[in-house]
Amino acid sequence: MSETVEWAGMRIDRSTAADLPQWRDTVDALRTSTRPRAADALRAAHRTGRPIAQPRCGVGGHEEMLELLRRLEPAGPGMLTVTIDSYTRLKQFDRAAQALREAPADLNGYPLTVHGWRRGRQLLDAVGVPLEVRHGSPDARDLFAVALAAGFTSFEGGGIGYNVPYCKDVPFATSMEAWRQVDAVCGALADDGVIVDRELFGTLTAVLVPPSISLACTLLEAIAAVREGVRCLSIAYPQGGEVHQDVAALRSIRALAARYLPPHVAVHPVLHEFMGVFPRGRGTADALILYGGLVARLGGADKIINKTNQEAYGIPDADANALGIRTALMGTSELLDFVALDEARIDEEMSWLQREVAELVDPVLQDGDVPAGVAGAFAAGRLDVPFSASVHARSLVVPARDATGAIRYRRTGELPFSAAVRQRNDRLTDTGAGSPDRFIQAVTADINYFLRDEPASV
Ligand code: 5AD
Repeated sequence: MSETVEWAGMRIDRSTAADLPQWRDTVDALRTSTRPRAADALRAAHRTGRPIAQPRCGVGGHEEMLELLRRLEPAGPGMLTVTIDSYTRLKQFDRAAQALREAPADLNGYPLTVHGWRRGRQLLDAVGVPLEVRHGSPDARDLFAVALAAGFTSFEGGGIGYNVPYCKDVPFATSMEAWRQVDAVCGALADDGVIVDRELFGTLTAVLVPPSISLACTLLEAIAAVREGVRCLSIAYPQGGEVHQDVAALRSIRALAARYLPPHVAVHPVLHEFMGVFPRGRGTADALILYGGLVARLGGADKIINKTNQEAYGIPDADANALGIRTALMGTSELLDFVALDEARIDEEMSWLQREVAELVDPVLQDGDVPAGVAGAFAAGRLDVPFSASVHARSLVVPARDATGAIRYRRTGELPFSAAVRQRNDRLTDTGAGSPDRFIQAVTADINYFLRDEPASV
């Protein structure tokens, strides 16, 4: 175990802290910075009604990272990203440093803690849009400290969404406490006039996640964050594929925020373009990326995280990523305003979805303390995530697509749903996939939903 010290109220590694500026200098630098801020970019997007686009992007070398950001900026993103490598996400800073020395191109992201806050500052100064740190760390305190010292104003993650999909055996008590400390720093900064956008990753395992599970998890993270003083939240939802359901989910983010969060907190819905198995063919992939942009606009999202037509093959190169940004933005064009949905169907979806979310969230809130409530609920299966890698989620829930492609519950496990919610899901998923073979076939087909229009060879 490495030795920890306190920095701004967070416990971080002594070696990380040794290289950081004083907390007061960090706050002053953030307060007096003239760089564009994430919270302002999101507010502006909300005013115009047109979501901004943001890619995922991160490479190991510093010069290469600068070059990547400069190459993506002309595509018109409203925000850019520094995606962090897996070693840094898991606090294996020594291994990240070694990889950076020996084979930087092998890193799957930018090791910000190894490069240090001064280089982080150079990244921020290289482009004219705000940058966000995106990663996947159950405990991101060191990374957050370096990001703040560099001047980042947006930071992704939370104690549920950055635990369940990424970790096999990190208890919720551990991840929730680490993220509580991050949020408390944001609260202290807000008191000093510095607003940090905190984005919550609702995608979870990215495999057929029922919308009410995604929204319940991000809402609980949001409530916990606001109790620590966070004032700007981006709440992300993964595109499932059925347009009425996706639009209903995005619109429900604002409705749920109005119900569960105080009015002084800015809440920005974010759409993750489809996070599941992606088509390999360029045409189908581009169409799905454009479709995501359209769904984001129809759902009132303030931001889209775009995919690329190289998604099926791995991490995209800069050209594919730039094209992904442009294609997603095309989907938000006013030229597509003639597209009208069945609003009554969306209203009905919203009503059921918000009911499901309330039935998941309200019992957890009764416990008073959100982190403890979350840990207890996952242990009992009252909160659950399908296909979870984490042993701390029961994964008793089984999702299925209904006849329209919307994601429903085939099995609700131990979720505390009312009879009405269970009956509706039973009715919608009654596809006769009874035998084990048919069951596996049905789940596989639902996962591969967007491969259905693919030619046999592409
Ligand atoms: N650069 C760009 N995209 C990345 N992803 C992960 N790491 C990077 C990176 N360094 C993307 C994957 C997938 C999603 C989970 O994140 O390609 O789309």
